[in-house]
Amino acid sequence: MVFQGTAGFHGGAPKRITASVLPSNFGSIRMRILFIGDIFGRPGRNIVKDRLPGIVRDHAINLIIANGENSAAGFGITPALAEELFELNVDVITTGNHVWDKREIIDYFQMVEGNGHGPARRVLRPANYPADMPGSGVYEGFKGKIPYAVINLQGRVFMASNDDPFRTADRLLQRIQAKVILVDIHAEATSEKISLGWYLDGRVTAVVGTHTHVPTADERVLPNGTAYVTDVGMTGPYDGVIGVKKELVVGKFLNGMPVRFEPATGDARLCAVVIDCDDHTGKARSIERLMLS
Ligand SMILES: [Fe+2]
Ligand SMILES: [Fe+2]
Repeated sequence: MVFQGTAGFHGGAPKRITASVLPSNFGSIRMRILFIGDIFGRPGRNIVKDRLPGIVRDHAINLIIANGENSAAGFGITPALAEELFELNVDVITTGNHVWDKREIIDYFQMVEGNGHGPARRVLRPANYPADMPGSGVYEGFKGKIPYAVINLQGRVFMASNDDPFRTADRLLQRIQAKVILVDIHAEATSEKISLGWYLDGRVTAVVGTHTHVPTADERVLPNGTAYVTDVGMTGPYDGVIGVKKELVVGKFLNGMPVRFEPATGDARLCAVVIDCDDHTGKARSIERLMLS
């Protein structure tokens, strides 16, 4: 089953098109980015493995970025799981508040020394964490001859207190040379995410939201050329509550007792967006939302 929508900026209101796929030869002259929402546990990893080659082919994808903060049974990501995603041709992995759930990721981040483009360097944690934390929140690389950058930020509303994501973005953008720049804003509050989208409009290619695990239908290209969506949605089991077995979460709401959360298993879906942009200016032309099962 496929549910999709697309929005583009053509000088007027965002336009909705219901075509299932775009012509694959668009990719020869365009930079087309696939961003996959929070990959949750084995169901999420398996559906990425099953569907990614077809998405890359049908949507002429050049660059693949995925949020992997829930890859390890919902809690964090291990080096082995990160490398499993890299073997599937994911270029950069972003994370969020669950990044430290598996301690091995700290050692992995510390392996980066001297290898600025190796796998460990291509796993990010939010850039607005305290400066002396392991890892990095920005990656700058090349896809073919096209320079690109990925910035990972975390919100502060209803989340742990971190540095200001807005001014962190300002600081990072002062030194980034690439025109093609994707920002993953991992945040709870829709208002904070939408505000960051407007704040960065015209300065980055895309601002995509993650963390809530619920996709939003507000994808659009903002007036100055930044593709935006409040939340890409989870890639994982939807027969649950944001990835967790539903009876455990419902029970916690009913009785408030502590409970060990276990990942749900059924109804795996892959949620992502495809962003088409001009590699010379970095401006987005369109953003298309995907939900595949
Ligand atoms: Fe998540
Ligand atoms: Fe999160």
